[in-house]
Amino acid sequence: MLNKIEKIKAELLDELKNIDSVEKAEEIRLKYFSRKGKFANLFEEFKQLPKEEKPKVGQFLNQVRGELTNLFEETHVSLKSSSKSMENYIDLTLPAKRQKIGTVHLLNQTLREIKDIFKSLGFSVYEGPELESDHFNFESLNFPPDHPARDMQDTFFVNPNFLLRTHTSPVQARLMQKTEPPIRAIIPGKVYRNEAISAKSYCLFHQVEGLYVDTDVTFAELFGTLVSFAKTFYGDDVKYRFRPSFFPFTEPSSEVDIWWEPKGKEGRWLEILGCGMVDPNVLEFNGIDSEKYTGYAFGLGIERMTMLKYGIDDIRVFFDNDKRFLEQF
Ligand code: DAH
Repeated sequence: MLNKIEKIKAELLDELKNIDSVEKAEEIRLKYFSRKGKFANLFEEFKQLPKEEKPKVGQFLNQVRGELTNLFEETHVSLKSSSKSMENYIDLTLPAKRQKIGTVHLLNQTLREIKDIFKSLGFSVYEGPELESDHFNFESLNFPPDHPARDMQDTFFVNPNFLLRTHTSPVQARLMQKTEPPIRAIIPGKVYRNEAISAKSYCLFHQVEGLYVDTDVTFAELFGTLVSFAKTFYGDDVKYRFRPSFFPFTEPSSEVDIWWEPKGKEGRWLEILGCGMVDPNVLEFNGIDSEKYTGYAFGLGIERMTMLKYGIDDIRVFFDNDKRFLEQF
């Protein structure tokens, strides 16, 4: 019996050496350690032994089974953890997964393009606050209190003196108050209006303001600059018209329309900007000598300009953050 135990021990040790999978380990457990396994059989045989032999054989059998059970468990555990580490194994030679990256928002693409065009014409870029005072948004631009022109712009007031700017024009006044001419600036930014939201209007949109103040600035220069801008932005064959208009801060004032002909539909004129010669009152109010200096100003509507260029017919798509729309550009 002792020999038999030795033999099974050697056999099992041999099998443990070659064990290479969890399945194989399970096979060994069944073969040796289960209720019908080889050790269970040995214990059955042990019961039949004559009394005098039992102590010695029993001790040996228990010892061997104990040792081998431990050894088996150890092998089994290390096998399981190594197969786990295979699961987490990273193959550094594989090609990388392509990460999805975002796109520059179409409005920002337009803004960048506009800035580049005006920079090439000698304009510098400035910014101003979106939370603005009544003083800068209206008064400094020749809108006295109760002036009817204030109704042109439905305003979000924060308190009686502060508001969300309704246009980028207040930054003109800010620049004039702190800079000696010549001033040649563009001012991009967000503006806010308390308007009913529709395909045509939104409570928030973008403008780029332009201001040029120097000696002898003329309307002809304003005209030339805007035409050259429109041709660069929309292409040489762009159809445009200057239409007389009114703004409290310019005199004379004009609006510029661009001809828009969507495929299969009737064409029409769309307004993209307001402009004019800076009213002498505005120059004086903001500390510039109107006898010595003249200036022109303009304000571009960025959403409008973008819609026209790309054939988009609903302003709300710019603010929906729908990737299916944004990724097209
Ligand atoms: N601020 C005007 C608006 O939002 C647009 C505008 C018109 C700006 C004429 C100008 C300008 O600088 O000269 O409706």
